[in-house]
Amino acid sequence: MKNKWNSKWIAVALPALLVAGSAVSQTYRVNVQPFIKAQCAECHGAESPSLAEFNLDQEKFKKEKQGPRTDTYENLLQIIAYPDSGAFMRRVDDGTNTSDKKPGNMYKYLGETEAERKTNLMMLKAWLGEGAWNLNRWAARGDVPAITKEQLDKIKVKY
Ligand code: HEC
Repeated sequence: MKNKWNSKWIAVALPALLVAGSAVSQTYRVNVQPFIKAQCAECHGAESPSLAEFNLDQEKFKKEKQGPRTDTYENLLQIIAYPDSGAFMRRVDDGTNTSDKKPGNMYKYLGETEAERKTNLMMLKAWLGEGAWNLNRWAARGDVPAITKEQLDKIKVKY
């Protein structure tokens, strides 16, 4: 009787644990870097300006269809945590958390189909860490508040 219950529990719980496990074990090297390279490198690759360079002449780079480099872990963190806190989240959010409830203007690059975009967004959210998907800025602007230390503490982004 006891054994029967155990095997039933395993059959139900194991797949759930595997799904939950895969959601928390995202790393930059295995999951995020290949994704960013495939979907974003055309305009955010090694040839693109660093965030600091980009900020010196945004208009020029926009015309050239170049955004700030996101080709390394360090470059990517600059648009997640500091100095451009939340930029990554604001641009790729599906509209669930944006102030105007519209997807960010980079959301479309998350995948070919809506299903692909949703899956990739889930992967990125899991990589950031539980409760870390926050669109706030370093300094408050308009209706977007400044990010707090408690909110920043949630960012895990395992390398
Ligand atoms: C076809 C070119 C193109 C592709 C592909 C592209 N981007 Fe962009 N991105 C840009 C340009 C140009 C800008 C600057 C203009 C703007 O702010 O919209 C930008 C701006 C951004 C910003 C704002 C940066 C800041 O500090 O203000 C983020 C974040 C971003 N992109 C993320 C991504 C991500 C993530 C991907 C891939 C999933 C991606 N982009 C794919 C062209 C692109």
